[in-house]
Amino acid sequence: MKQSTFDRQDSVTLDLDHLRAQFPMLQRRMRGKRFAYLDNGATSLKPESVIAAEQHYYTELSANIHRGVYEFSEQATVEYDQTREKVARFIGAESDGSIVFTKGTTEAINVVAYGFVRKFFGPGDELVTTEIEHHANLVPWQEACKATGATLRFIPVNPDGSLQLDALEDVITERTKLVAVTAMSNVTGYMPDLARIIAAARAREAVVLVDGAQYVSHHPVNVRSLDCDFLVFSGHKMCGPTGVGVLYAKNEVLEQMDPLIYGGDMVTKVRRDEATYKPIPDRFEGGTPNIAGVIALGAAVDFLSQVGMQAIAAHERDLLAYMVERAREVDELVTYGPDDLSSRGGIFSFNYADVHPHDAGALLDQEGVAVRTGFHCAQPLMQVFGVTGTVRASFYLYNSTEDIDALVNGLARIKGVFG
Ligand code: ALA
Repeated sequence: MKQSTFDRQDSVTLDLDHLRAQFPMLQRRMRGKRFAYLDNGATSLKPESVIAAEQHYYTELSANIHRGVYEFSEQATVEYDQTREKVARFIGAESDGSIVFTKGTTEAINVVAYGFVRKFFGPGDELVTTEIEHHANLVPWQEACKATGATLRFIPVNPDGSLQLDALEDVITERTKLVAVTAMSNVTGYMPDLARIIAAARAREAVVLVDGAQYVSHHPVNVRSLDCDFLVFSGHKMCGPTGVGVLYAKNEVLEQMDPLIYGGDMVTKVRRDEATYKPIPDRFEGGTPNIAGVIALGAAVDFLSQVGMQAIAAHERDLLAYMVERAREVDELVTYGPDDLSSRGGIFSFNYADVHPHDAGALLDQEGVAVRTGFHCAQPLMQVFGVTGTVRASFYLYNSTEDIDALVNGLARIKGVFG
């Protein structure tokens, strides 16, 4: 089954049979039906190479890093640090010293909220974000602003969930010290024009944090050409394990920050009343890290690099276009997000008539279709849309038009039950 040529001459074709065969979960059936996994925004499935890398650590090394003078500890340290190099290359970072391992996007944002905002912000300072953010890219800023007396401001949002970038110059002012924005909405797939936002921030000498949780796993990224100060993302959404994520920070910004976690392995000298700290990035990785997870993240980066991020992005564009076309066949489907598909990644949010999203999701489950339902950790955006929740289908490299057909057929079943 070769696919991904839907209405596009320039698509890079993925060999879906070959890809899908590498994912054990795709060999399973759900509720006795072919498994259509459309919840990649929540987490991705894992290929055999990533599962094997995690198992390799526990069966062949199983030693702590940076501490042992014996072979297996040294080897574990080498493999852990190799992932740092792979991640740096994957996102075009200036050096592997800019890569801090965290337990996920949320922790990475909290490192910035504590180590940068709480350290440097005060009354009168402003932090700009948006109403389309995941709670992880909002709540830490709310708390940091409360703690410092800084003000939280918002780039206005359009009714379709896109941002009013014409208002950037009004919102980002000489008081703005940080702009925190998603690269891709986890609800609509909307991808704001980051270059424009970063240029507006630069004009005011504000630093920029990009939440790449939904983006980095689906598109090529180069932090140097993007010129963001921070990029945060999670391993589990990019074919990697849960419990590991990345904070990229420009070296000069990271150097100024305080760590979030203090303790062992991040210090150089400790006396009774004070301590000195290791250089970046080790200073930000106190305690025993998720060694197996980091090593397996390296395998995930290898896997995605071999498939090719351009090809993955093109495949998902095709799937979204197919989804939108098939959705036209369904009466009473309310969809969310900008009509301009070129501004969107592979996410499709909808409600079916006045059926509660959880009911729709439960019926789709009976058809073997896995979607996420609810407010998607994005309640402010739900308020913009005037709903309490949506049904969300989110695509990845191993999805096919067959998965979308299963979703559309499942909607017919919802119509049968509720229509
Ligand atoms: N942030 C993940 C999602 O959007 C969990 O589903």
